[in-house]
Amino acid sequence: MGSPLDAVTWPVRTARLSLRRTTPDDLEATWEYRGLAEVGRWLTSASSTVDEYRATFEDPERLAMLLVVELDGAVIGDLMVKVGDAWAQAEVKEQARGVQAELGWVIHPDHTGHGYATEAVRELLRLCFDELHLRRVTADCFADNEASWRLMERVGMRREVHTLKESLHRSGRWLDGLGYALLADEWRGRT
Ligand SMILES: CC(C)(COP(=O)(O)OP(=O)(O)OC[C@H]1O[C@@H](n2cnc3c(N)ncnc32)[C@H](O)[C@@H]1OP(=O)(O)O)[C@@H](O)C(=O)NCCC(=O)NCCS
Repeated sequence: MGSPLDAVTWPVRTARLSLRRTTPDDLEATWEYRGLAEVGRWLTSASSTVDEYRATFEDPERLAMLLVVELDGAVIGDLMVKVGDAWAQAEVKEQARGVQAELGWVIHPDHTGHGYATEAVRELLRLCFDELHLRRVTADCFADNEASWRLMERVGMRREVHTLKESLHRSGRWLDGLGYALLADEWRGRT
């Protein structure tokens, strides 16, 4: 089955980076940073061995919504674009199919602090609105993941929800969550 990301011509270049679809061959390069405890800390799933990671990574549905971020030809991070339906009342459900996307991001800690995530996500927003013609993008994180929500604010996403002790972290603690969004109209008004 096709992926919404098939609509874009890859790779897509920014001033310093290149974004492309992920392939099974990116397993090792992405494991280099996804295997680090400091990276896995806030991610939905953190594998402790490369074999465990392979099982998640090679899932075709997940691969289809994953992009890698390259700097000078080396993979330094990845982005998720999960296109899905908006909530809608039954009679208008069809019109709400595939109109929005949940975004996600990881940058190798050796490459954080240089604005690469900002650069990649700004381009991702352009792709979502200009090329995939989505009407809304969203992203969620633990409130304690300051690097992630500061990134959302840098790229102009708007904080919509702050949930209290609603999300269970693998440490066993119930943590606050933050939800951000951006509408195509808001994005167009700014660019
Ligand atoms: C979230 C994450 C991608 C943010 O990475 P990041 O490096 O902080 O973000 P950027 O690449 O945009 O860089 C911003 C930093 O670079 C600095 N910077 C340098 N040059 C810059 C430029 N040209 N543009 C923007 N920022 C620049 C900024 O001042 C900022 O530094 P600061 O945090 O000290 O203020 C990264 O921390 C990460 O991968 N975390 C682990 C995985 C994770 O939590 N993912 C999200 C799960 S919800």
